[in-house]
Amino acid sequence: MNLYEKIVNKEEKISIVGLGYVGMPIAVAFAKKVEVIGFDVSKPKIELYKNGIDPTKEVGNEVIKNTTVDFSSDEARLREAKFHIVAVPTPVKDDHTPDLTPIESASRTLGRNLTKGSIVVFESTVYPGVTEDICVPILERESGLKCGLDFKVGYSPERINPGDKIHRLETIIKVVAGQDEETLDTAAKVYELVVDAGVYKAASIKVAEAAKVIENSQRDINIAFMNELSIIFNKMGIDTKSVLEAAGTKWNFLNFSPGLVGGHCIGVDPYYLTYKAEQMGYHSQIILSGRKINDDMGKYVAESTVKKMIKANKQINGAKVAIFGVTFKENCPDVRNTKVVDVIKELEEYGIDVKVVDPSADKEDLWNEYRIKLSEIEDIKDMDAVIFAVPHDEFKAIQLEDVKMMFESNRYINSEYMNEVAATSDFVIGKSRKDCVLMDLKGIFNRKDADDKGFVYWRL
Ligand SMILES: NC(=O)c1ccc[n+]([C@@H]2O[C@H](COP(=O)([O-])OP(=O)(O)OC[C@H]3O[C@@H](n4cnc5c(N)ncnc54)[C@H](O)[C@@H]3O)[C@@H](O)[C@H]2O)c1
Repeated sequence: MNLYEKIVNKEEKISIVGLGYVGMPIAVAFAKKVEVIGFDVSKPKIELYKNGIDPTKEVGNEVIKNTTVDFSSDEARLREAKFHIVAVPTPVKDDHTPDLTPIESASRTLGRNLTKGSIVVFESTVYPGVTEDICVPILERESGLKCGLDFKVGYSPERINPGDKIHRLETIIKVVAGQDEETLDTAAKVYELVVDAGVYKAASIKVAEAAKVIENSQRDINIAFMNELSIIFNKMGIDTKSVLEAAGTKWNFLNFSPGLVGGHCIGVDPYYLTYKAEQMGYHSQIILSGRKINDDMGKYVAESTVKKMIKANKQINGAKVAIFGVTFKENCPDVRNTKVVDVIKELEEYGIDVKVVDPSADKEDLWNEYRIKLSEIEDIKDMDAVIFAVPHDEFKAIQLEDVKMMFESNRYINSEYMNEVAATSDFVIGKSRKDCVLMDLKGIFNRKDADDKGFVYWRL
């Protein structure tokens, strides 16, 4: 019996190393078919899972409670598995160079517990060469085994999209690569157990590594182009969204929109590729230009907010600004590398008091990483400007009338007394109608309605 058959017959186990946004859905999916050990270095995370709590909200508490994944933070348990999937983070350092510490450390852990006849498949996003040139030597050193002889390696990039309930592990074609035909065949069959959309067999491990890193780089560059257009059209007084809608009627115009590019994938992965290119003596131009534009967007949004507030006769120092949404993308609790934080920091440098509302955000991570506390929507009163930064579904349900109530003068004007005053005073009417600065970054409100309702309205 080969390894695939033994796995299917539950004579051999699969291990998932790193149970985060990527590892957890994989572990849960495989556990429906085969025996799975879910390993993570984080003991608190393992405790959460054991108690049926899914902090990533990717699979949900009910699924965690009912899964047969054998959760453990004891690395020795990895010896029980013969097919290992590594899904640990691959962030960048402050200088934007790859931080391979977690993947190297996971390789050491796995190496110490690797048994003969195993296959190790890496899923973390890396630059071409990390699996074979960095992880394999670590696995060999720690295990005393020889790659290609005693164990094999593969690479299968993860394409899931957090918060997206349509494009899921099961529904996205999975690219799979192996160091030889046999490994590729086994890995492909194993993934086919859970990926309904099927697998694509890549020509080599480096091809699969490169494919993943360019998917996200391409997206980054396209969004950077949109952001550049937004900067240009804002200067021209042209609404970018309207331009894109018009251009989008052409069959081959690509559908992208401007926005803050955060998170640990699109805003990070291109740096993996440019780092490796630099090592080979090529200085990337397009990729790094795109990165620079996208990295500067938080500052641009904050400056645009301040300019709008000045035009609305607001006193900047001590002004109050509410930001709706702080996660790196909509309908997802993940706040890692969120560019909304750049907006907050920049506004605070102007002496502005910023309040943040986000029902989706992971409160603990937000505090630990950025020292930001969330406010309740009820606390959003007497604002000088309101920024809708992340289009969570909850925010799309908010009406412009509700937004108006977040500004000082409108609370008064809605009181009976002030209605009377308003009826007789141009000053109050003018103030109530003309100084509500609404920064609607992703255009969740209708521009015309906002203009008609007297907002000082701006979007990317
Ligand atoms: N989240 C996504 O949308 C997404 C999509 C595609 C690809 N990826 C890639 O997948 C990889 C994992 O991303 P993620 O979002 O799941 O990260 P994550 O931070 O949510 O999860 C990683 C997990 O690995 C654990 N870990 C860290 N070091 C470890 C070690 N040495 N041994 C065992 N466990 C360890 C962490 O405790 C954490 O639970 C990254 O390379 C990322 O670029 C992520």
